[in-house]
Amino acid sequence: MATSSTPPRLLIQPGVPDFLDLPWEVGVSEWDHHRLVDMPTGIHRHPVVFVAYEEGVFAIKEMPKHLAENEFAVLDRLQHRTTRSARPAALVTRPWLDPGEEQSAAVITRFVPHAFPVRNLVGGLGFGPRRNQVIDAVAGLLVEIHLAGCFWGDCSLSNLLYRFDAGAIEAVMIDAETSHIYDSLTPGQREHDLEIMIENVAGDMSDLAVAGGGDLDSADLELGADIVGRYRELWAVLEEAPIIPRGESYRIRERLQQLNDLGFDVDDVVIEPGPDGNLVEIRTVVGGRTFHIDRLAELTGIRASENQARVILGDVHWYLARKGAVTDRERRVAVVEWLTEWFEPTLERVDRECPGTDPIQGYCDLLNFRLEMAAERGADVTNDEAFEAWKAAGFPGFPLE
Ligand SMILES: Nc1ncnc2c1ncn2[C@@H]1O[C@H](COP(=O)(O)OP(=O)(O)O)[C@@H](O)[C@H]1O
Ligand SMILES: [Mg+2]
Repeated sequence: MATSSTPPRLLIQPGVPDFLDLPWEVGVSEWDHHRLVDMPTGIHRHPVVFVAYEEGVFAIKEMPKHLAENEFAVLDRLQHRTTRSARPAALVTRPWLDPGEEQSAAVITRFVPHAFPVRNLVGGLGFGPRRNQVIDAVAGLLVEIHLAGCFWGDCSLSNLLYRFDAGAIEAVMIDAETSHIYDSLTPGQREHDLEIMIENVAGDMSDLAVAGGGDLDSADLELGADIVGRYRELWAVLEEAPIIPRGESYRIRERLQQLNDLGFDVDDVVIEPGPDGNLVEIRTVVGGRTFHIDRLAELTGIRASENQARVILGDVHWYLARKGAVTDRERRVAVVEWLTEWFEPTLERVDRECPGTDPIQGYCDLLNFRLEMAAERGADVTNDEAFEAWKAAGFPGFPLE
């Protein structure tokens, strides 16, 4: 018979440690181990601990076997469809325990870097000037998760982590215990998921208001409905199927541009005959939301989040234009110059002067600052001058509306 000295059963992803040196014979809450590290967490039901290895920091969440298996499978599928979900590292089961027991299994995910729980975003009783950013982040993530065929089943503010993404906020899905992946979702399934989100978000906002010293009347109970409003706007843009005259094919390019500007990759464009021979209908099949992420990675090898990538691409193009790089070869050389003479040294400087912050976000903050300085002055500002002024101003981020 299996006993607690039996090693656990492990299913691990490539590139992660085997986690066998951890004391699996007891529950994670009882661990006293040199690999444990303290990290901030949001509100949660299951025990969560963090462990540090050479490969990075990992979050371990203990729960009954069927929930763990489901969460691991969903996160595994999602990691190929979106950059905005926790990356699974391992599924651990303790075969000597009854599979219904709370400690019978655990899911290990890679620690989401530079991200923080929802309470770090709250100013006063609600989100204050960051309210719009939160609405955009949650609505955008839900659209993306739904496009991937995932019914979340428990979208709430505390099942997300947040990180700064240039002038926006990006939300990352971390809790997928209740989720299911389908080929695609029906409108009814999407509506059901939105209803669950509204209810959960109302609960989150009530908790946050009370924690902030207010009462329930002061809670921002409209937030969920506003997230749905933004979600519907985005979904409507994706579903648009404009009918255009056959001769105006430039409008297909415009339609692609509109989707790319929102960050969506277009996998296919389907052109159908329209209501008469002179008209065609354009339908677009949208993939993930990594348009600028992919462009920046192709051009420079840099990995950033979507809005950061958009801002950094603007900087690369500005640099190429200033250098007068036109041919492929000139552009390749200028990109290497930009990377080695400007980007990398600036990143190092940001890391040195504001340790602990996301250096890529710091870089975007600096670019934004340089742009504002240049606009005020009506002339280009050198990078070094911008850095000194940005530092003197206390490293400000993007202004809030
Ligand atoms: N991969 C991760 N990176 C960083 N923090 C994480 C990660 N996974 C979980 N957490 C932290 O643990 C908390 C609980 O995670 P969650 O999956 O919501 O657990 P529960 O099912 O118990 O609600 C989150 O609020 C978050 O702060
Ligand atoms: Mg949770």
